[in-house]
Amino acid sequence: MTTDPSASIPRSHYRDGEALEREFATVYGESWVFIGHESEVPAAGDYVTRSMGANPVIMSRTEDGAIHVMLNSCTHRGTEVCKLSYGNTTTFRCGYHGWVFGADGDLKGVPGRRSLYGPSFDPGRLGLRKARVGTFCGLVFATWAQDAPDLVESLGDMAWYLRGLFELFSGGLEVHGGAHTVDVRGNWKIHVENFAGDGYHLKNAHKTMFDLGVMGTQAGAVDGFVVNVPNGHSLRAQYLADEGVPEAVLGYEDALLESIDADEQHRRFRERSTVIHGMVYPNLLFITTAPLYFGADADGAVAFTQLRQITPIDPHHHRVTYWTLVPRDASPEWKSRSYLYSTRQHGAASFFEADDLENFRRIDAGLGDAVAGVEPFNYELGIDVAERATPPWTGPGRIVRQDLTEANQRNLVRRYLEQMGVEG
Ligand code: FES
Ligand SMILES: [Fe+2]
Repeated sequence: MTTDPSASIPRSHYRDGEALEREFATVYGESWVFIGHESEVPAAGDYVTRSMGANPVIMSRTEDGAIHVMLNSCTHRGTEVCKLSYGNTTTFRCGYHGWVFGADGDLKGVPGRRSLYGPSFDPGRLGLRKARVGTFCGLVFATWAQDAPDLVESLGDMAWYLRGLFELFSGGLEVHGGAHTVDVRGNWKIHVENFAGDGYHLKNAHKTMFDLGVMGTQAGAVDGFVVNVPNGHSLRAQYLADEGVPEAVLGYEDALLESIDADEQHRRFRERSTVIHGMVYPNLLFITTAPLYFGADADGAVAFTQLRQITPIDPHHHRVTYWTLVPRDASPEWKSRSYLYSTRQHGAASFFEADDLENFRRIDAGLGDAVAGVEPFNYELGIDVAERATPPWTGPGRIVRQDLTEANQRNLVRRYLEQMGVEG
């Protein structure tokens, strides 16, 4: 493992097609890649189409309840077999020569099979290529690496935090409002490292929102911490340090609070945190917040939880898919309001996103070529600085009691360089 605290990803990796090819092969080819939420395919035959790195895939559910992730590419000539972004079907019929695949990817029918193909033709080996699928707290991941450690092992101590985020309520969470997808400028890693734990940009990049009061009492004394685990995953949480802050800042309906199904530590983690955001390496980002503290117009305490999937398009652009998750047992009115705040505050055209995407664009514009390439990015924030806060609970992982630190970004850089086989 790289131990140099100033290790940095070379600028060329934010710009060069060659580096991206390697990322597709290693980072996206060997990791558990986030695909979607199981509530997107509740019934047999339901499917969505997604990307898994450079590869188009279909996530589907079969009669037996199993979720499959398979290459959306016909085994005859490679045509995409599914053109829609979601739907329900018993089969996928290729538009070119008409081969038919089942919801599990098996090849079910070939036009002219008896008359035009000989005895050696074996449909059994011509199903769509299947990825290994793993689900955790409703989150669906897939990997092409048959020998990768299983999903829970790869999540390590991050699993504890994901349980606190996505298993708080006994009824579980579900996607509300579908998936929103936009293509934006900037290398994909910039977006991922922002969510990994960048508390440092808040008061500068999002200054307008503090000035406008949209952030409410978030502008007051805020403390926080970051936590990271070896496989590159990390999270940042902040909470209000002011006297007189309520014991719980969850922002859910009273009836739902009774269905909280969590141990004391998980409950404290959620009750005391006003904002929690983070990422599961390499491409799942998440944020949850209780907008009670986001200005008077928030109309009371309405929390939201958002997921994002990040997919590189080319070195200078990435695709972002956004989802809002709501407790399955919440009232329809509450779900709608949570969806509204999620979209308004952190959706593709939101206050926050306008600021962040502009900075991602400017990073791309500032990349330059080989001349600028010798200037490494800097990740020294927080090194040898005294920790100042104590989270009001204890949890696993490497906790740094100071949220204005790049400890999580350094963790991400280490994991990335290790996986890419690059000296920092
Ligand atoms: S490419 Fe799909 S059937 Fe020919
Ligand atoms: Fe931001």
